[in-house]
Amino acid sequence: MPTPIILDCDPGHDDAIALLLALGSPELELLGVTTTYGNQTLEKTTANALRVLELAGRVDVPVASGAAAPLERDLVVAAHVHGESGLDGPALPPPSIGPASMDAVEWIAGAVTDAARPVTLVPTGPLTNVARYLEEHGTDGLERIVLMGGAIAEGNMTPAAEFNVWADPEAAQIVLHADVDVTMIGLDVTHRAVTGPDVQRRLRAAGPIGIFVAELVDFFTVYHRQTYGWDGAPIHDAVAVAHVLRPGLVETNRRNVEVELDSELCRGRTVVDLWRRTERAANAHVGVDLDPDAFFDLLVERVARLG
Ligand code: BDR
Ligand code: CA
Repeated sequence: MPTPIILDCDPGHDDAIALLLALGSPELELLGVTTTYGNQTLEKTTANALRVLELAGRVDVPVASGAAAPLERDLVVAAHVHGESGLDGPALPPPSIGPASMDAVEWIAGAVTDAARPVTLVPTGPLTNVARYLEEHGTDGLERIVLMGGAIAEGNMTPAAEFNVWADPEAAQIVLHADVDVTMIGLDVTHRAVTGPDVQRRLRAAGPIGIFVAELVDFFTVYHRQTYGWDGAPIHDAVAVAHVLRPGLVETNRRNVEVELDSELCRGRTVVDLWRRTERAANAHVGVDLDPDAFFDLLVERVARLG
């Protein structure tokens, strides 16, 4: 039986690739897509989710838009990474369909209630929608949460913090302390999932969706080349989806994770007690390693299935 998932995302180049990976994977039943501000404004990320679903011929997948801003902090979007549209690069028409009239949190509640089996939430953007959902509806009907965000010893928004957690640290702290199984796939892992010329060649040979993904990667590489000197881009969000459909792909350790909320310098830092320096109880499975070849083999194969 496929695992029912809801992708809560802010497309975003790697969110779009995560969405396509989910669509191409029979191990997963994508119940719907909920959207948040993040890589761009909510209006743009929602349009992007719809555009990608239309491209893939999957307008049957419901989309519900959620938070337009963090719980407490000011809105900051990652246009410097993802461009003005949030999905710059490939030519993609505006969506001809719209999102559901229901807010993302209410939509998730209905989907979890209606689902035949416990649902896995896969958040790949700031965690505002998921935190609200947990506060309003609790954890009944959830199997687990597998999120892309945070890091053990890395930062990309600041030297200390990863973007999704930095954007809404209060929401991240709520999610990490919810009474549900949480897996945190952070930058230490996703910076091992960096494309290169060979992956790009294989994607371009994988059909029209593969060409689209390669064009997304071309744009996404510009920022990463300038910042890190990489000849490719990390497909952060697709690693979270891949970990759900291919257990063991990411090696995890169960550890305590707290989010820094008070400091300005370290805002949104995920403090992972990797070496068990405290008595604080473990609250998350933390990604520590990834087999990049297995990840990209899976990604290319599943993208190819989409035609
Ligand atoms: C995360 O931030 C966004 O730019 C990406 O989509 C990913 O979810 C990486 O820090
Ligand atoms: Ca994202």
